[in-house]
Amino acid sequence: MDQKQGKYQNPAMAILTGIKDLFSQKTKAGMVREEDRLDNKNILVTGANSGLGYATALHLAKRGANIYMACRSGIPEKGEEIKKISVSRTIWMLQVDLSDLDSIESLVKKITARKLEFDTIICNAAMVPRQSRETKQGLEEMFTVNYLAKYMLIRRLLDNNCIRTGQSQRSRIIFISSESHRNPEAFDWQNFGLYQPYGMGKTVELYGYYKLLLTTFARELSRRQRLSGVSVFALCPGPVNTRIAREAPWVIQPILKLIFAIFFRSPMKAAETVVYFATSPDFENISFDYLHLMTRKEIDPMAADPENGRKLWELSEKLLEGFHIRLGQNQKSDMD
Ligand SMILES: NC(=O)c1ccc[n+]([C@@H]2O[C@H](COP(=O)([O-])OP(=O)(O)OC[C@H]3O[C@@H](n4cnc5c(N)ncnc54)[C@H](OP(=O)(O)O)[C@@H]3O)[C@@H](O)[C@H]2O)c1
Repeated sequence: MDQKQGKYQNPAMAILTGIKDLFSQKTKAGMVREEDRLDNKNILVTGANSGLGYATALHLAKRGANIYMACRSGIPEKGEEIKKISVSRTIWMLQVDLSDLDSIESLVKKITARKLEFDTIICNAAMVPRQSRETKQGLEEMFTVNYLAKYMLIRRLLDNNCIRTGQSQRSRIIFISSESHRNPEAFDWQNFGLYQPYGMGKTVELYGYYKLLLTTFARELSRRQRLSGVSVFALCPGPVNTRIAREAPWVIQPILKLIFAIFFRSPMKAAETVVYFATSPDFENISFDYLHLMTRKEIDPMAADPENGRKLWELSEKLLEGFHIRLGQNQKSDMD
């Protein structure tokens, strides 16, 4: 097992590992087919104003989907841009700040008021801060945006019947994770949700930890939704030339930009895995899958463990209850 060797412990190792993966030949799980259309499908993409999320929204708009771009910024210009390039008129933008639980709640209210029902949800938005920051609710910002917001959004959308269930074609929830979810040695249940200050040296390590939480949640959600007609997928897009490292110190910004431009894939190319999950009939009867680039892999055993899934689910629910966010109890695990 070469998984726990600190491959994503620091930015240099993470970049090198990403580049090495990109150039090593692996068996592809399948391919995106031109004929797979998404006409009349409602798709929500978070963080769709930039990078991978923008590229995904554009690809899916070109395939005829109704795209709802849930974004903090770029409203309305990024939506207008996608409309123009894709020659689609069914693109809408919804404002949300995923670091603020109130803002997530008002996004859910807007969606409910419009009686929207999604066929596919792509939880893409994430960030890499320079150091810890407290949110309006006193939580840590990267923990909130990269993990808790997704847990809350999906649970609130399920509670409000905003994700199609029980139909012949399964709905799809797609989480953009990262291979760095394999990095942590253990869960830190004791300090779950507690604000703990950290500096730049710990950011990449914590990024991997929050991706582990996200992947564990994805697997647990799939267990709880298996019978309801909702499939759950997670993926690592490999290294992508985006603005993800925008908070890195200014002295290394030029070097990073150069490395990203030379070695990393363009967002339009890297979106291939997301588009494959969103469009392919290969996944019609599959309740969970994980792809790294286009290669099928097992998720880390810690993320796959049902006991960890259950614990994370319950702790997250309890944490949100502390902010008076009550979640429906209709999502039982297969293991119950
Ligand atoms: N780039 C890579 O090499 C790489 C590798 C593996 C995985 N990923 C994953 O790929 C996904 C997309 O990242 P990217 O590389 O495309 O980076 P990006 O260009 O920086 O895009 C991140 C998106 O998340 C949004 N976001 C951040 N904080 C938010 C908040 N509080 N509320 C709402 N939206 C927020 C950003 O909105 P603003 O523009 O308003 O900030 C932006 O739209 C992430 O999940 C990332 O972890 C990336």
